[in-house]
Amino acid sequence: MNDVIKTIRERRSVRAYDTAQQISDGDLSLILEAGTYAPTAHNEQPWYFTVVQNKELLEKINLKANAVMAKSDNEWLHSLGTNPDFRATYSAPTVVFISGRDGAMAAQTDCALAIMNMMNAAWSLGIGSVFVGLLWPYISSADAPAELQIPEGFKLFHAIAFGYPAGPKLPAPPRKTDVVTYIR
Ligand SMILES: Cc1cc2nc3c(=O)[nH]c(=O)nc-3n(C[C@H](O)[C@H](O)[C@H](O)COP(=O)(O)O)c2cc1C
Repeated sequence: MNDVIKTIRERRSVRAYDTAQQISDGDLSLILEAGTYAPTAHNEQPWYFTVVQNKELLEKINLKANAVMAKSDNEWLHSLGTNPDFRATYSAPTVVFISGRDGAMAAQTDCALAIMNMMNAAWSLGIGSVFVGLLWPYISSADAPAELQIPEGFKLFHAIAFGYPAGPKLPAPPRKTDVVTYIR
């Protein structure tokens, strides 16, 4: 199997991180650069990456997300938000926020493609990651753009946590296989 297919098949969402080991700036640059090699509608490259490695800010963001979840009517979200030990980012040492340029043709799609490149690039370097949809309530809050220094003209979309995995390598959840129609 070639290395790209192997990386794609072996990548897993990582939910336990070595909090003592930060990823190197060299690896971080490779990961971000891989993001920028994603295809984009009209080659607009309408993304902006905000790397947060400040522990105090990450803790603040996690606690804000928990506070929103605690108020949810959804039982699962409520139980996460009220669990004092829960951190949406699993205390990963690096969180990358991805924003898209206002008015771009397909900014959300372009940013999602960049994210997938970054997650696979990270895995190929031995670095784990997880898409943190549970930070969306924070991302859409009034505080977030200023707190994250998002430039004017960009909208915050997503957050991805990165770090060295702690704990055993987990097998892939079974993949659905009845999801293809061939029309030949
Ligand atoms: C849009 C999106 C949001 C997600 N949000 C979370 C999240 O908040 N927390 C989490 O642990 N995993 C999250 N995930 C990861 C999925 O749970 C994971 O990709 C899925 O279970 C398949 O596992 P795998 O990534 O190991 O193949 C998210 C994935 C996507 C695509």
